Amino acid sequence: MSVKDVIIALDFPTKEETLAFLDQFPAGEKPFVKIGMELFYAEGPDVVREIKARGHKIFLDLKLHDIPNTVKRAMAVLSRLDVDMVNLHAAGASEMMKGALEGLTRPDGSRPLLIAVTQLTSTDAAALKNELLIDVPMAETVMSYAKNAADSGLDGVVCSPLEAVLVKEKCGENFVTVTPGIRFADSAVGDQKRIMTPEKAGKSGCDYIVVGRPITQAEDPVAAYRRSVKDFLG
Ligand code: C5P
Repeated sequence: MSVKDVIIALDFPTKEETLAFLDQFPAGEKPFVKIGMELFYAEGPDVVREIKARGHKIFLDLKLHDIPNTVKRAMAVLSRLDVDMVNLHAAGASEMMKGALEGLTRPDGSRPLLIAVTQLTSTDAAALKNELLIDVPMAETVMSYAKNAADSGLDGVVCSPLEAVLVKEKCGENFVTVTPGIRFADSAVGDQKRIMTPEKAGKSGCDYIVVGRPITQAEDPVAAYRRSVKDFLG
């Protein structure tokens, strides 16, 4: 089901900056891109339509989490934007995830890939135990959430590249892994803690790598994108 690809995280605050970034690519080169909350809340659905009209595949990273009926209806709206991938929090539980799938499905039966977020990578062991009151180790909750997502019919999860092999073992080879935390061996790590190079990710069960700053902040973003594709696909 999945096709390995590099997704560029368009973490820009405005449409102008986003389009100026995309304008650097030659007309025939259309990277898969991720639009997150910042850009979507600033510019609304029009920015999605505009980037789609330019020929890009889009991962709309809005991480929905609400009661099943609300998520179902919101997903119906998102699927009409003709995006290629959307996501939600697995913490919303299986009824919400199944509702999301129903809402996403278009009249012709097609739908975007639906990906679950398990535990946010910003949640550490102390927060898990003391605030979320989850007493099992982090890895166990991540795998359990991933399995719930798979059993609910979702297509995959966002996970660390270090977890991708384990997710595939637990949820099946066709269960899609979308992995941020990618850095070239010679790029700045920034705030990411558990990182992997595109080359290693390509050999570690990652279906899609999400790459932000190593491409968007590069001196030559097009060259950095091409390097990540070449390294990842091998
Ligand atoms: O710039 P960088 O490569 O770190 O960007 C990674 C992208 O992936 C950002 O848009 C970030 O919000 C997103 N992401 C992440 N870790 C997660 C989930 C999403 O880095 N666990």
